[in-house]
Formats: sequence, structure tokens, C-alpha cells
Amino acid sequence: MLTIALPKGRIANETLQLFQKIFNQEFKFEDRKLILEKGGFRFLLVRNQDVPIYVYHQSADIGVVGLDVLEEKDLDLVRLLDLKGGYCRVAIGMKKGEKPDYNRPDIVVATKMVNITEKFFSQKAISPKIIKLYGSIELAPLVGLADMIVDIVETGTTMKQNGLEVVDVIMESTTHLIANKHSFIEKKKEILELYSKLERVVNV
Ligand code: PRP
Repeated sequence: MLTIALPKGRIANETLQLFQKIFNQEFKFEDRKLILEKGGFRFLLVRNQDVPIYVYHQSADIGVVGLDVLEEKDLDLVRLLDLKGGYCRVAIGMKKGEKPDYNRPDIVVATKMVNITEKFFSQKAISPKIIKLYGSIELAPLVGLADMIVDIVETGTTMKQNGLEVVDVIMESTTHLIANKHSFIEKKKEILELYSKLERVVNV
């Protein structure tokens, strides 16, 4: 049996639809349940940022997660396949009309993605003050908490509605299939079988 960690919400639904397509049966979590066992698989419903953690500790053999989360967590995992879902960008946002001056010594950045932010700025040889937030990041520049934010942009609506705009793109992200290193050895056959089935439905 393969245990698969899925992030709650749209990506879990999209992934279960891929399984539906491959195995021709319905995969659906019962209301509020966090485990679904079906067709030789055990699916776990976890928070997006927790998927790499479940897989890293081998509580799940494999998982589906955005590249942005993988980069942020930076754990030793096997990246198997780009599932091409959940497209988004990790971008720098500022109040409309403002431009980033990376030469300023006292830049303040608000984000929930501290590692990606640190890496981006250290490549420019800058070490801004980073304020870690847990959500509603777009608020920070509006109330003077930060000069800019590093955040996920999907449709761009949240930034637009709050008078912000993208001034720089750090990375693009899509969902990826990942595996635990030990599981990848112990359950290689099962994982690769699933991998090739998923590859076929993703690349049509
Ligand atoms: C994410 C992200 C942005 C928003 C972007 O937040 O942090 O706020 O989605 O989407 P958009 O470009 O389509 O408007 P999320 O919904 O995860 O909530 P959060 O603020 O609690 O992180």
C-alpha cells in the first residue's frame, strides 16, 4: 500500500481526479475525514506546507506539493514528476507605482516564505529585514509594516484589490510528485508504476 500526502483544497481535488481518470473509480474524502483508503492507496489530507514534512518523515511515501513549498522547506526528498497543476508565481509586490530600490540598506520585507526570500536577496548580496507573517501578507505594505512583500500570486486579484503590483518574479511554481528517499527504494516498483500512469495522464 502506498501512502500519499495531498494538500487540502484545490490541489487535492485535482490530484484525486487524476487518480479517478487512471483507475476508473471514484476517489473522494468523506466530509471532514483526513484519511481515504481506496484501490491500494491511503491518501492523507494535510496542510500545503506540511506535505514535505509528512513525506520526509515517511508518514507518507509520496506526496503532491507546489514547487514553491518544496523550495521553501528544502528537505531531502525525491522530486519525481511535474504534475503541472496549481500554477502560481512567487513574486515581490509593492504599492502601485513604487519601484524596488535594492541598493537601499534598510529594506523591510514581509512574507510567509522566509527561506525563498532570504535566498533571493542574498543572491543580490542584500540582507533585508524579513518579517515573518502567516497570511494576509498584502496588508503589510499598506500599514507601513514592510516596504515590499514576497508572496504567492495566482490570479493577481488579491494584490490588485489591495493596490499592490508585482515588481519582480522570484520563481514559477507548479505541483510536483515527490517521494521519501527510503520509500523510493523500498517501494520502487509501486511508485514507478504510479509514476508512469500519472505521467501519461499529465502529458496528454
Ligand atoms: C494566497 C497568497 C495570496 C493569494 C494570491 O493566499 O498568499 O494572498 O493567495 O492569490 P490571487 O493572486 O489569486 O489573488 P491564501 O489564499 O493562501 O491565504 P493567506 O493570505 O492566508 O496565505
